[in-house]
Amino acid sequence: MKTFLNQNIANEIIRLKKEKNAIILAHYYQVPEIQDIADFVGDSLQLSQNAKSTDAEVIVFAGVHFMAETAKILCPEKRVLLPDLEAGCSLADSCPPEAFKKFIEEHPEHVVISYINCSAKIKALSDVICTSSNAVKIVESFPREQKIIFAPDKNLGGYINQITGRNMVLWNGSCEVHDVIKAEEVIRLKIQYPDAKLIAHPECKNIILQLADYIGSTTALLNYSIKDPSKKFIVATETGILHQMRKSSPEKEFIIVTTDEKCSCNDCPYMKLNTLEKLYLSLKNEKPEILLPAELIEAARSPIIKMLELS
Ligand code: 13P
Ligand code: SF4
Repeated sequence: MKTFLNQNIANEIIRLKKEKNAIILAHYYQVPEIQDIADFVGDSLQLSQNAKSTDAEVIVFAGVHFMAETAKILCPEKRVLLPDLEAGCSLADSCPPEAFKKFIEEHPEHVVISYINCSAKIKALSDVICTSSNAVKIVESFPREQKIIFAPDKNLGGYINQITGRNMVLWNGSCEVHDVIKAEEVIRLKIQYPDAKLIAHPECKNIILQLADYIGSTTALLNYSIKDPSKKFIVATETGILHQMRKSSPEKEFIIVTTDEKCSCNDCPYMKLNTLEKLYLSLKNEKPEILLPAELIEAARSPIIKMLELS
């Protein structure tokens, strides 16, 4: 019954998409039925590149608020819809603009590199944006002697400091989904599955990254799981990515690192606010729509464009 209903909703979404010249962009952390109906599924960088290059007049962003905001900044002339306006991000919320402005003032002569998981106001205060897939490249585009502030993710920033040998000043922010992944649980799974590879997103704590066989953005983790000959993978990131991993390699086993013994998943509560029904309604009613003041779009745009040029 549920599948029949979902199929009807999916058919209506396809019809409305055509009628309205709309495109659906979905992040890997979305529920499987949204990923399956999307025109494009990808990581944060790929999604912003797609938003920038699409000819569609309407972008339905199946992701969280900062992602839809980024699409609006890149395409101010388009209607950008987010199925649930409450789909925020704990990492973006961990960096309030007023406090961050003060932090920048306390660190003169520093350039500001901000991870894309931040609000438009933080982007406007930054020199350049990065994502987990291009952070090393963006940081390395600055001379070694350049002082740098990296915000808002202290885990990603710490990891980039380690691999580049830099000493960037880190804003003390983190993602509530990745930062709570425990080493004890990872070690327990490594003992239970001795022949499995541990793959981790760089938003995880340093101790988890030290245990990992491979570290990368969601797309990089997916590609690694396809190319690596291992048959089992312990996955330290959000559950949604397992959908594409299982689709691409049905013969392989993927074990998610859970943070709660009662749950067999590691879900981002914000990403999971979007449902197929909400996606249908947003396309039908063309709301909730992302609207931003023109000055904010103007100020936040150049650090994002700089990132896309450097990527
Ligand atoms: P990527 O899509 O860059 O891997 O980032 C993951 C994430 O946390 C998105 O919110
Ligand atoms: Fe934000 Fe973390 Fe959810 Fe990504 S997984 S949207 S960083 S809270």
